[in-house]
Amino acid sequence: MKAFAYRKYGTPTDVLSLEEYPKPVPKENEVLIKVNAWSLNPAEWHRLRASIWMLRLSNGLWAPKQPILGADVAGVVVAVGGKVCSFKVGDRVMGRNFSVGLAEYACLAEGKTALIPEAISFEEAATIPLAATTALIALRDKGQIQTGQRVLINGASGGIGTFAVQLAKHFGAAVTAVCSGKNEALVRLLGSEEVIDYEREDFSGREPFDLIVDLIGNRPTQELNQALSPTGRCVMVGYSNFKNLLNFLLKGAWLSKTTAKHFLTMDAETVTADLDFVLNLVSEEAIQVVIDRVYDFSDIPKAFEYLGTRRAKGKIVIKS
Ligand SMILES: NC(=O)c1ccc[n+]([C@@H]2O[C@H](COP(=O)([O-])OP(=O)(O)OC[C@H]3O[C@@H](n4cnc5c(N)ncnc54)[C@H](OP(=O)(O)O)[C@@H]3O)[C@@H](O)[C@H]2O)c1
Repeated sequence: MKAFAYRKYGTPTDVLSLEEYPKPVPKENEVLIKVNAWSLNPAEWHRLRASIWMLRLSNGLWAPKQPILGADVAGVVVAVGGKVCSFKVGDRVMGRNFSVGLAEYACLAEGKTALIPEAISFEEAATIPLAATTALIALRDKGQIQTGQRVLINGASGGIGTFAVQLAKHFGAAVTAVCSGKNEALVRLLGSEEVIDYEREDFSGREPFDLIVDLIGNRPTQELNQALSPTGRCVMVGYSNFKNLLNFLLKGAWLSKTTAKHFLTMDAETVTADLDFVLNLVSEEAIQVVIDRVYDFSDIPKAFEYLGTRRAKGKIVIKS
């Protein structure tokens, strides 16, 4: 099978190359799929560039230990492991393979895989595994979102943000989106009642929020604290630099201890129940998938270059 591999850290066009690999063999609890569509997440970018030095501890200090990057994938089951009960050959499925995704075939663990409803295309399904479930976990589990709450999404026009705005709306919240002015129409269309253009205004001056989902992590913890209601929750999903993360961890822990507010980080895990939850909403047209660009498989390095701009409106998808 063909796969995009990288042997050293660097820019997409310098280090990603198309190589021939043996087709993977599914373990007992896995399905093997022929992939029809992939989507990219910033996690793949960080692993390619190794720009976050801490990542090298797990990924390989000087060169990547695992030459094929992970990805969100959607395709057709071509083989099943001996202990798999929920899927059979021929099923249309989707999920995330954290370590070997950018290839024509990928294995998915049964507990992290979902059937794609007929109304949903492979391209749409491939956008969901990491981005949509991260939005769901941030709002529902970490954020404990309630009907009628004021919810702020910082980074509302990106891969996670476009799902987060719609899911928050689905849960009955009044959503304020933070994005650049050019994306205001998009986030309003998705259900945001208020929009803050971060190039003109910061969000700490507004009426306090019950829940902040921060996908950018570029504001000081003090400012997040000012923007929260007295019992509010702030979930930091992404962060712009290590200093901000450290500041959030330390000050956030102190504020969580000494006030009724909660400052939380998260590490999303993709599970079938959450995938099914989002797939149902998409197939009922209660929420929509926002795809910015679709690339051919051979153009994966170009797709990565666009990912690296951090300007995507919704998701970047690759098709076979
Ligand atoms: N903790 C976890 O479990 C977890 C899981 C998945 C992802 N993540 C992290 O979550 C973060 C977001 O992921 P993603 O997939 O949504 O990224 P993404 O799709 O690459 O985000 C792109 C978006 O970011 C927006 N943006 C850039 N600078 C901004 C700013 N200063 N203020 C507000 N918006 C800004 C851009 O909007 P404009 O063009 O309008 O500026 C663009 O729409 C990443 O750091 C990722 O690593 C964490």
